[in-house]
Amino acid sequence: MDTPVLDVTPDEAADLLRNPYPIFQRRRTETGGVFCGSVMDWTKAAEDFRPENLYAAVSFDAVNRVFRDGKAFNSHIYDSTIGLFIGPTILAMEGKTHWEHRNLVSAAFKSRSLLRWEPEIVRPVVNGLIDEFVDAGETDLVRAFTLEFPTRVISKLLGLPEEDLPWFRTQAVDLISYHVKYKRAFEASAALKDYFLGHIEKRRSQPTEDIIGDLVTAEIDGEKLSDEAIYSFLRLLLPAGLETTYRSSGNLLFLLLTHPDQFRAVQADRELIGPAIEEGLRFETPLTTVQRYASEETELEGVTLPQGAVIDVCIGSANRDENRWERSEEFDIFRKRLPHISFAAGEHTCMGLHLARMETRVALECLLDRLTDIELVTDNNPHIYGQPFRSPTALPVTFAAAG
Ligand code: HEM
Repeated sequence: MDTPVLDVTPDEAADLLRNPYPIFQRRRTETGGVFCGSVMDWTKAAEDFRPENLYAAVSFDAVNRVFRDGKAFNSHIYDSTIGLFIGPTILAMEGKTHWEHRNLVSAAFKSRSLLRWEPEIVRPVVNGLIDEFVDAGETDLVRAFTLEFPTRVISKLLGLPEEDLPWFRTQAVDLISYHVKYKRAFEASAALKDYFLGHIEKRRSQPTEDIIGDLVTAEIDGEKLSDEAIYSFLRLLLPAGLETTYRSSGNLLFLLLTHPDQFRAVQADRELIGPAIEEGLRFETPLTTVQRYASEETELEGVTLPQGAVIDVCIGSANRDENRWERSEEFDIFRKRLPHISFAAGEHTCMGLHLARMETRVALECLLDRLTDIELVTDNNPHIYGQPFRSPTALPVTFAAAG
């Protein structure tokens, strides 16, 4: 089958940041779900930076197949992108090496820990933050809440001292801004390495019950993680765990505040929080696109991809596939629930998905318990923005403290 070559045109580039979904929809309907081209904006990139053999998967079936077929589609591309800043991690591994390494690090994410983290860490962090603005009657929930609670949660999960939080917050933000300020990101990466090495060293002599402590003691068949594997994984948790959660919780709040009927329904019935979180993740995933390499010449939905092809795996488009969801372009927390693919699928399925869901649920529950009459201030036209990471520019709200 002939493959159409479709790229984002200069006219489409601005829309891609503001609202990429009409472009994704056009690509799905103009192609069989896979095409030669990209859903990323290459119009400003120097020719040399554009990989050869670019393809894009945009239908749910195509994206699902790429994620689930780790043999045909590998994630080594991370070695030359985010891997430069965080070091070698499971994100770029495959097969047996990935499985063994993932088993070692996932020891720190046991469901037993999750049960403990909710009352001991997440709820107190979220309520402590709300204390800081509850009496003000107005705030920007991005600055005061959605960016801050996952930062505080992760720093507590790692067992970092309270007084290090301002320093850690700065380094975390610098590291996750690697795509815009790469020099600062390299400096943050080096500083975090030294900082984490100190904590790893301490825990070797004095074991602790936190993620770093668990990583230091994790052992399978006599195999332990090296220091480099531990501090690289800890750096991975910043873009993987902090940035995604801050952006997805902002997206959910934005969607609820701009759909007041559905927001009122959630306020009246807390059982709707779970469906609202899933629909928020489907409708506005915080990460629209990841990449894979084709390990060998392979066919995907009727398109032959050459060995070494770079594939945009468009989660955002897959989540709006009209062949899977009726009225796929509508945000509807009441819709018949079908799994979305925001946490990927297959061997690289998100390791923090239960933590992310729990953090978002607790954040929403506490906001609803403690604030009433929450309204979005639309004067400066807050909106969801960005590519491939997306979230609201701001969430200015007014509210009253609940009685
Ligand atoms: C709503 C929030 C989140 C979303 C949408 C999300 C999404 C994803 C996606 C799409 C991947 C696969 C990337 C790829 O294969 O290219 C991934 C992997 C991963 N995520 Fe998440 N994530 C979220 C929260 C978290 C949290 C809270 C943590 C931990 C604190 C976390 C840790 C990880 C790790 C360690 C991986 C790598 C897994 C592997 O390569 O085997 N994520 N996540």
